[in-house]
Amino acid sequence: MPTYALLVRPALNRVYADSSVDLMAAELTVFGERLLGGRIGGIEPTRIGGVPYLGFEADSLTERDTQHLANLSSAYALFERRDDLLAPVELTPLDKFDDDLVTILKYSGKTNEHFTKLMLNLAVASSDSAGEMLDRKLRVLDPLCGRGTTLNQALLYGYDVAGIDVDGKDFDAYSTFIQTWLKRKRLKHSAEVTRVRRDGKVIARRLAVSVGVSKESYKAGDALNLDFVNADTTEATRFHRAATFDVIVADAPYGVHHGSRADGGLHRGPLELVESAATGWARLLRPGGAMALSWNTNVIPRTALVDALAAAGLTPLDEGAYLGFAHRVDQAIVRDVVVARKAD
Ligand SMILES: C[S@@+](CC[C@H](N)C(=O)[O-])C[C@H]1O[C@@H](n2cnc3c(N)ncnc32)[C@H](O)[C@@H]1O
Repeated sequence: MPTYALLVRPALNRVYADSSVDLMAAELTVFGERLLGGRIGGIEPTRIGGVPYLGFEADSLTERDTQHLANLSSAYALFERRDDLLAPVELTPLDKFDDDLVTILKYSGKTNEHFTKLMLNLAVASSDSAGEMLDRKLRVLDPLCGRGTTLNQALLYGYDVAGIDVDGKDFDAYSTFIQTWLKRKRLKHSAEVTRVRRDGKVIARRLAVSVGVSKESYKAGDALNLDFVNADTTEATRFHRAATFDVIVADAPYGVHHGSRADGGLHRGPLELVESAATGWARLLRPGGAMALSWNTNVIPRTALVDALAAAGLTPLDEGAYLGFAHRVDQAIVRDVVVARKAD
């Protein structure tokens, strides 16, 4: 059976310290099971010429298989092993725009862009939309979107995306960033910030962006839609219709420096926040949709997070490769990911 070697993106050694190859193995296992029909085996770290790779076997990878593998968050290059030689396999990722969309913004509290891509991949691969990952404009929600790393990654994939964050500074910073970026890249788009009113009262601000992957697609009315609501995420169902998102991706507050920041005197701890918001998030997911949620295990044990998502009516995927995503971020943070599905 042909064997392959995947080279890990060098930047990941900085992000995940020693765990990058293990995380890639877990991500590849999920891709193998959910996107490549279980045709990948023998996933194992290996060294070639003193450089660490992830080795695996696969019975004849199709072009579509390699298109999927090209989107692994950690993949830098893929080779087929032929005796002592490495034959490059062309990787063409989904990216619809320049990838500086996800790298330019740097700020304290940013969720690393590779890790954000990992979570989006896990959620898509675990949902009923997995088979359409490369073909359809999926709908993504990040209900704790900060300054928009998930929003940008979803746009890069050519998906529609919505975000919610309570922090007005994050909303302002993201609005300014995305409008500047779209202008600088000369992309056909429209963008406006409006006030959302209910019963005569302003309850939130909303940024609505529509952008064309090309001039032609924009003119033809086939634009990507981005929506960012500046509000408390426990109110998510006031801003979006039920069962309209294919996937949800969120990085919960780490509860380290300032806990969860919330307006109006609300100061919830991260677990309390997830517990009070998860039922609303679950309502917004389509049947067969999936959610990937990351958090700091130094503050919340895995069982508590898994129980919170189960209590919201979701089914946590809590076995096999899904248990392989815990990694150290810094002295105060050991991050993990839980993936949960909404019943079909
Ligand atoms: C770990 S950060 C997410 C960062 C984001 N992924 C990024 O890269 O910018 C968690 C976010 O949760 C937001 N948050 C905390 N409590 C919230 C609430 N009740 N409603 C909405 N957002 C909240 C914080 O403002 C913060 O931006």
